Order: sequence, then structure tokens, then C-alpha cells
Amino acid sequence: LETKSRLPIIWLHLQECTCCSESFIRTAHPILADLLFNQISLDYTETLMAASGDQAEKCMHDTMEKFKGEYILMIEGSIPTKDEAYCCIGGRSAKQIVEEASAGAKAVVAWGNCASAGCVQAANPNPTGARPAHRIVSGKTVINVQGCPPIAEVMAGVVVHLLTFGTIPQLDSLGRPKAFYSHRVHDTCYRRANFDAGLFVESFDDENAKRGYCLYKVGCKGPSTYNSCGIIKWNEGVSYPIQSGHPCIGCSEEGFWDKSPFYKR
Ligand code: SF4
Ligand code: SF4
Ligand code: F3S
Repeated sequence: LETKSRLPIIWLHLQECTCCSESFIRTAHPILADLLFNQISLDYTETLMAASGDQAEKCMHDTMEKFKGEYILMIEGSIPTKDEAYCCIGGRSAKQIVEEASAGAKAVVAWGNCASAGCVQAANPNPTGARPAHRIVSGKTVINVQGCPPIAEVMAGVVVHLLTFGTIPQLDSLGRPKAFYSHRVHDTCYRRANFDAGLFVESFDDENAKRGYCLYKVGCKGPSTYNSCGIIKWNEGVSYPIQSGHPCIGCSEEGFWDKSPFYKR
């Protein structure tokens, strides 16, 4: 990597909550400072850049012209399609921005469930007509880095893959990098022995919860969720939802807001 020039990046913030960015800036392997100051050139990102208004717009257009075919487009957030007024930035709709910025990109990365599958904005009744990036971008494979948010080191791992190999990583049928999304949360869960033995938490905070039994009967979606939480974990490998006593809610799967037993309208 020391011999390579910094990778130009345009990072869009559309219909999102910014926690994908919050996750990314906490990566420990590699640490963000190394990525940001030595490996990538984050030319445009509404959240972290100092520029605003016309200067910010110029940064994006300069990158699109100067590094055509070389820059990576990273998208955080879903794209509204019902009305151009939703998520209008610099006088252009989110859809126009994505179409324009993806046309000259070397690769397109969709951060999190919002950009990969629509997330909470696309939940029934989806008032803005929220769509994931792969439904708007044409002629290019979109790398769906799933989760709400994705694990910091998974995000950094995808960036490092792009930096090192200059190619799109191997993806599963839903566009997720196989390196991080080929195992179910259930397959790597330390409570799995309890599942196999039929030892379950029956209700939150019961005695079995205190014993650390399996959370399947209180709604755990680990058996149908593909992610690296049981392996890489969160906060530099400290813990993850199940280790904290909460069932997996399937945040790296499409439609988890509508399918989850925890969120009801
Ligand atoms: Fe926030 Fe989740 Fe969307 Fe990321 S995927 S921007 S964490 S709502
Ligand atoms: Fe599977 Fe969830 Fe039970 Fe873990 S807690 S073994 S992921 S059902
Ligand atoms: Fe999400 Fe389940 Fe991991 S809720 S953070 S995929 S344990």
C-alpha cells in the first residue's frame, strides 16, 4: 500500500442517520487515521468535510472530472424516489446525484442497510419511496456492506480490499462481500450450545437470561442473519448484541424493520 497513491473517494449522505459514518470512524484495524491520512483521499463527504455550499459542490465535481474511472463512490443512505424535494442537495435530487456520481466511478459501495436495502425509510409504508443504491445505479455492481450500521472493521476491510487489489471483492447473491457475510450469526454464536441443548430464555430478564441461554424464543434472528458479529464483534472486539443479552434483530438483512418482532407500528 505504501507504493500506491491515495484512493479518491466521494461519500454521499442521503436518507440516513449517519451512524454508518460513526461506525467507520471507530475502526481499529486499520485505525481510521492511517486510512484517512495515508491511504484514501476523502474528497467529498457532507459530514466530515470543512467546506460547505459551493466549495463543497466544487470538490465533488473536481473529483468526478479529475479522477474519472478512478474514484470510488460510497453511498450512505437510501434514495427517495417519490418526490424530488426529498433529500435535495445543491439543487439536485438524491437520484440525480447518485446517477451522475456513479457514472464515472470505478466502484460503488453501499454503506449499511439504508443504501443496501432501504432500511427504516423503506419500511412500510415507505413514504419517500426509498430505494437502495443498486436499484438506482446502472451498469455497475454495487458492493452492499450490510448492517445497521456495518461493523467498523468490515467497512475498513472493504476499503483495504479496494486499495490493495483494485477489484470488487467476491460477493454473495445479495451483493455482500463473502469475506464478511458468508456465515450466519447463529453459526458463530457462543450461545449455540444452549440452542442445540434446548436451553432457551423464555422471557427477558428471567432466570435463564441470567444464565446466558439461547435467545431464540425471545425473537433472535441469528439463524437467518448473515454477518460477522460473532467473529469480529464491535468496539474493537469487545461485545455484540447477543453478548449484551439482546437478540439479533437481523440488521444486515433486507426488510428487517418490517420483519422484526421488536418494531411495530
Ligand atoms: Fe443509520 Fe442504519 Fe442507515 Fe447506517 S444503515 S445510516 S446506521 S439507519
Ligand atoms: Fe442462534 Fe440467537 Fe441462540 Fe445465538 S442466541 S444460538 S444466534 S438463536
Ligand atoms: Fe445486527 Fe444481529 Fe449483528 S442485529 S449487529 S447482525 S448480532
